[in-house]
Amino acid sequence: MKVYQLLSWVLLMGLALPIVEGLGVNWGTISTHRFPPKNISQLLQDNGIKKVKLFDAAESTMSALAGTGIEVMIAIPNDMLAAMNDYDTAKKWVQKNVTRYNFEGGVNITYVAVGNEPFLKSYNGTFDNTTFPALENIQNAINEAGLGNTIKATIPLNADVYESPTNNPLPSAGQFRADIMEQMTQILRFFHKNAAPFTVNIYPFLSLYANDNFPLDFAFFDGSATPVIDNGIEYTNVFDANFDTLASALKKAGYGDMPIIVGEVGWPTDGDKHANLDYAKRFYDGLLKRLGINQGTPLRPNTYIEVYLFGLIDEDAKSVAPGDFERHWGIFTYDGQPKFPMDLSGQGEGKLLVGAKNVTYLPPKWCVLNPNSTDLSKLADNVNFACTYADCTSLGYGSTCNNLDANGNASYAFNMYYQTQNQVESSCYFQGLAMETTQNASQGSCNFIIQINSPASSSPTVSLVVLLSVLLGLLSQLF
Ligand SMILES: *[C@@H]1O[C@H](CO)[C@@H](O)[C@H](O)[C@H]1NC(C)=O
Ligand SMILES: *[C@@H]1O[C@H](CO)[C@@H](O)[C@H](O)[C@H]1NC(C)=O
Ligand SMILES: *[C@@H]1O[C@H](CO)[C@@H](O)[C@H](O)[C@H]1NC(C)=O
Ligand SMILES: *[C@@H]1O[C@H](CO)[C@@H](O)[C@H](O)[C@H]1NC(C)=O
Ligand SMILES: *[C@@H]1O[C@H](CO)[C@@H](O)[C@H](O)[C@H]1NC(C)=O
Ligand SMILES: *[C@@H]1O[C@H](CO)[C@@H](O)[C@H](O)[C@H]1NC(C)=O
Ligand SMILES: *[C@@H]1O[C@H](CO)[C@@H](O)[C@H](O)[C@H]1NC(C)=O
Ligand SMILES: *[C@@H]1O[C@H](CO)[C@@H](O)[C@H](O)[C@H]1NC(C)=O
Ligand SMILES: *[C@@H]1O[C@H](CO)[C@@H](O)[C@H](O)[C@H]1NC(C)=O
Repeated sequence: MKVYQLLSWVLLMGLALPIVEGLGVNWGTISTHRFPPKNISQLLQDNGIKKVKLFDAAESTMSALAGTGIEVMIAIPNDMLAAMNDYDTAKKWVQKNVTRYNFEGGVNITYVAVGNEPFLKSYNGTFDNTTFPALENIQNAINEAGLGNTIKATIPLNADVYESPTNNPLPSAGQFRADIMEQMTQILRFFHKNAAPFTVNIYPFLSLYANDNFPLDFAFFDGSATPVIDNGIEYTNVFDANFDTLASALKKAGYGDMPIIVGEVGWPTDGDKHANLDYAKRFYDGLLKRLGINQGTPLRPNTYIEVYLFGLIDEDAKSVAPGDFERHWGIFTYDGQPKFPMDLSGQGEGKLLVGAKNVTYLPPKWCVLNPNSTDLSKLADNVNFACTYADCTSLGYGSTCNNLDANGNASYAFNMYYQTQNQVESSCYFQGLAMETTQNASQGSCNFIIQINSPASSSPTVSLVVLLSVLLGLLSQLF
C-alpha cells in the first residue's frame, strides 16, 4: 500500500468512526436569533448524532427532523402539565404532536418528556400534583394509539429528587426526597408497568458552582480526586457518585433494574470562573471516553448509558437566574461552530466537531462607544439598558470579556444590543453615546460578535422582549 493510500484509508476510517452508542444532544431554542432548524438538522447529521432531545414539539423543528432517522425525545413544557390532567386534552396533544409524525419518512419519536424537572426544589411544589396525572394520561394516550411499544413517556428529573442523608452522605444511602416520596412511588410503578426509563439530569459543574469547598478534581473523570469510599467501592468523580445515588434510591424503592437515561449532562464555557474551554474539554474528554467503552458506573457496571449532552448550541435569551453560565452550555457557538476539540466517537482524539456550513451573517458592522463622547453621566444607564435586552454575560467575573475597561464594557454592551436588534441603525444611538463602525471591535480574547442573519425565535416571550426593547430604544432617543 502506498503511503498516500494508507493515509486516505486512515482518514476515511477516522471519518467513518461511529459516535458513542446511545449518545444524543439537547436542542434548546431560547435564542434571540434562532439557527434555522434545517441547518441544525444538517449539523446533527454531519456529526453523526443520531439522538436528540427537544424541549417542545414545534412544527418547524419536527419537519426539519422528518426523514432523517434521528431518534427524538419531544417534550411537554411544565406550564402545560395541568392541562394534560384532562385525558381528552392529552389525547389531542398526542394526536397532534406524536401520532401525526408516525409515517414512513416521518419523525422517529422514541420518548415524550412530560415536564422538565417539575420537582425542582425551587419550584416550591408548584407541579407536585399535576405531574403524575399528566404522565399517566400521555402514556395511556400513546398506548391507545397503538404506539406504546416504541414510544415511552418519561419525566426528566433534576438530581435534587434524591439525596443521601447528611449523616451518611454515600451513594449507597441514596433515597428519594421525603416531600415527593408519594409522587415518586406512583411514577416508578407506572414507569415499570410501561417499561419506561427513569430520566435524570446530572450536573457536576453545578456541584462545583454551588459549593466553594467542592473538590475540583471530583467534578472530572481523570481519577485524580481523593476517592470517596463506600462499602469498598472507590468513587473518584461526582457523576458516578450521583448516578449510583439514584441507582440506590431506585433499588430501595423496589426497582433496582429500572433503566436510567441521563437526560442532560455537560459543561458551560463562559459566565463563571469554572466555565471555560479547558474545563469543558477536560469534562467531555473524560465523559466520552468512558461512554465509549461502556464502562457504566460501580453499581451499574459494564453497561451503555443513554446520555444526552447539554447542550447543542448556545442560547442567548435563557434566564440567567441559575447563573451567567446558563447562556453558554453549547458544544457549538450561537453560529454553529465548534468551541473546542471533541471526539464524539469516545476515542479521545483531539479532533473538532464539524461546524455548520454556509452560515449567513449580518454585515460586518459593530456598534461601539463613540470615543468623542464627553458627557458620560448617562453611560451606566445606557449600558444597563443594553444589557437588560441583550446578552452581556461574557462581561462578568471569570468570563472571557471581564478584562475590558469601562469603555470597552460599554462598547461590548452596545454591540450586543445592536446585533440583537439586527443592526438596525436606531439601535446604535444610546443618547448620542454610540456609533457604528466597520472595524472589528473585538478586543483580545473578547469577541465582539456579528449575529447570524436569521429571524428571532418564535417564542412569544422573546418576541415581546425584542418588540419592547425596540420601543424603548425609540423612546430613549426622544430624550
Ligand atoms: C403540539 O402541536 C401543536 C399543533 O401542531 C403545536 O401548536 C404545539 O406547539 C405542539 N406542542 C408543543 C408542546 O410543542
Ligand atoms: C426508530 O428508532 C428505533 C430505535 O433505534 C428503531 O428500532 C426503528 O427502526 C426506527 N424507526 C424508523 C421508522 O426509523
Ligand atoms: C419559591 O419560594 C421562594 C421563597 O419563598 C421564592 O423566593 C420563590 O420565588 C418561589 N418560587 C416559585 C417558582 O414560586
Ligand atoms: C397538592 O395537593 C396537596 C394535598 O391535596 C395540597 O396540600 C397542596 O396544596 C397541593 N399543591 C398544589 C401546588 O396545588
Ligand atoms: C454551501 O457551500 C458550499 C461550498 O462551501 C457549496 O458547494 C454549496 O453549494 C453551498 N450550499 C448551499 C445550499 O448554498
Ligand atoms: C442555512 O443553510 C442554508 C443552506 O445551506 C444557507 O444558505 C443559510 O445561509 C443557512 N442559514 C444560516 C443562518 O446560516
Ligand atoms: C471625533 O472628533 C474628531 C475631531 O473633532 C473628528 O475628526 C472625528 O471625526 C470624530 N469622530 C467621531 C467618530 O465622531
Ligand atoms: C465591566 O462590566 C462587568 C459586568 O457588568 C463588571 O463586572 C466590571 O467591573 C466592569 N468593568 C469596568 C472596568 O467597569
Ligand atoms: C473579529 O476579530 C476577532 C478577534 O480577532 C475574530 O475572532 C473575529 O472572527 C473577527 N470577526 C469578524 C466578523 O471578522
